[in-house]
Amino acid sequence: MQIHLDRSLIDKNIKFIAHDLGLNINHQIPSEPYLKYDEKGLSFIKDPNNPREYIHIDYLKGRAGWRLNRSNHESNLKKALGKNQKKLHIFDATGGLLLDTMIFLSLGHKVTAIEQSKILFYLVKDALNRAESKLSFIKNLDFRFGNSIDLYKTIERPIDIIYLDPMYPILKKNQKKSLEIETIRFLLKEEKIEGNDQDMIKKFLEYDHKKIILKRPLKSEIYSNINYQVKGKTTRFDIYL
Ligand SMILES: C[S@@+](CC[C@H](N)C(=O)[O-])C[C@H]1O[C@@H](n2cnc3c(N)ncnc32)[C@H](O)[C@@H]1O
Repeated sequence: MQIHLDRSLIDKNIKFIAHDLGLNINHQIPSEPYLKYDEKGLSFIKDPNNPREYIHIDYLKGRAGWRLNRSNHESNLKKALGKNQKKLHIFDATGGLLLDTMIFLSLGHKVTAIEQSKILFYLVKDALNRAESKLSFIKNLDFRFGNSIDLYKTIERPIDIIYLDPMYPILKKNQKKSLEIETIRFLLKEEKIEGNDQDMIKKFLEYDHKKIILKRPLKSEIYSNINYQVKGKTTRFDIYL
């Protein structure tokens, strides 16, 4: 894989990212999957011939911006967090695009989020850098690259909630979101990251915890003894206390 960028845009930051990812910077458009850095920021292009297969995160507009603007309507997520008005410290063990974490932050909570894909980590970091002057709550985020199963032990306590949103199969109804998930799967394969979601859930249930929120497709099997559920139209939150 390579990073494609316009000669005029070379800066220290993109050189650092290329070095850390072990990628070459190329000024020609590659014919294989690549990272692109342009005036919009960093993007991942999965298929240069299919403009729909890409990841570019923008917390200020589009789907993420829209969801953030109406975070008060996230009644199920709020219910899952609990009625208590207290500011929580949430450990998001499956960071992904940080869409859920951004909702937690916008509701006034503090979040430590972990992502295991280094490419996704840099895509998110770039989006956070572009948004932080407009979204002041980003200051309450500690975002790290790594495996959350290992990092959990090193995080400052107290942690009020562990949030788990493992990947699940494509839903035909939601192709746009699924394409992103498929692209994340592709990145994990490219980075040779293996992991079993069931094992991860099991590990966190064994760790000391006050409360675990596990996001699942509405009709999926219950993993183990839950305390209660918050159900939405297509997803549900299983709560373990
Ligand atoms: C379905 S996505 C999460 C989406 C996220 N909730 C959001 O709102 O954008 C799952 C993510 O968890 C990450 N992941 C899975 N297991 C992990 C682990 N043990 N440590 C860190 N990240 C992990 C995957 O790499 C993937 O990006």
